[in-house]
Amino acid sequence: MRVLVGGGTGFIGTALTQLLKARGHEVTWVSRQPGPGRTTWSELSRSGLPLCDVVINLAGENVLNPRRRWNEAFQKEVLTSRLDTTHLLAKAITKAEHPPRAWILVTGVAYYKPSPTEEYDEDSPGGNFDFFSNLVTKWEEAARLPGESTRQVVVRSGVVLGRGGGAIGQMLLPFRLGLGGPIGSGHQFFPWIHIGDLAGILIHALEANHVQGVLNGVAPASTTTNAEFAQALGAALGRPAFIPVPSIVVQAVFGRERATMLLEGQKVVPRRTLATGYQYSFPELGAALKDIVA
Ligand SMILES: NC(=O)c1ccc[n+]([C@@H]2O[C@H](COP(=O)([O-])OP(=O)(O)OC[C@H]3O[C@@H](n4cnc5c(N)ncnc54)[C@H](OP(=O)(O)O)[C@@H]3O)[C@@H](O)[C@H]2O)c1
Repeated sequence: MRVLVGGGTGFIGTALTQLLKARGHEVTWVSRQPGPGRTTWSELSRSGLPLCDVVINLAGENVLNPRRRWNEAFQKEVLTSRLDTTHLLAKAITKAEHPPRAWILVTGVAYYKPSPTEEYDEDSPGGNFDFFSNLVTKWEEAARLPGESTRQVVVRSGVVLGRGGGAIGQMLLPFRLGLGGPIGSGHQFFPWIHIGDLAGILIHALEANHVQGVLNGVAPASTTTNAEFAQALGAALGRPAFIPVPSIVVQAVFGRERATMLLEGQKVVPRRTLATGYQYSFPELGAALKDIVA
């Protein structure tokens, strides 16, 4: 199939592209920068959707960039980089003479309200209590297409664990030095997924005609707490991981509102993802981390 991937140049997009190509699919990225194998957002807005079978959107400013202050300007970038690209793709799909078979968006589990007790599946309510949950609601609304000619899928992803980027990319150095540990109390849930499985779920959504609606992109054993995650990462590296990062430090670096993404968490289960027939390669945290840090 011909697959168009918005934000395909990033951490998830690179892994997804490798897997798509290995399965014989053709990939074109939509990027802010022109280059080989890609088109740009301005070209898309000028000329409409290029001929393709599936469209996926992964574009978005990195929310947890520690070098950016959590101020109004950055919040706007976080919001518009997701809403504008998603709107543009949805509009281009609606107008296309030959609409694609499937349209897939990756959002986040920040849709569900952090809680030490609640368990959330894809039908659970959410999306209306803070900046991030409101963002997910608007993002998913921006993707909605009128009519049924294109299959629509939203994957609400947990923290994506993979080599060379994402959360692990930022944590690896302190953990390797034996300076890692839980964040804040460590009791908060840490919904995670191996990058190979997130790419796998996207390919499942793209290839299986019966898949539509929301899928949670988390591992089935994702009912891990942050402290358990820190311990497992320390074990995978053969290093102690007992030094906690105090909440106050996290709030100072990320700002109070953004720090909630790290200091609070949700227990999320992939009920629909499993029910649609997806089989995980890395259902267990220990094996997922060993694969990543090996
Ligand atoms: N990584 C995770 O743990 C995780 C968890 C849940 C949800 N997600 C969501 O999954 C998507 C992909 O995540 P990722 O980790 O692969 O992200 P990433 O590596 O930070 O980047 C994704 C791509 O988005 C594009 N982009 C960045 N800033 C942009 C802006 N201001 N305007 C337009 N495009 C911009 C970039 O492509 P160009 O430079 O080519 O334009 C970049 O390669 C994001 O929407 C993210 O919110 C990620």
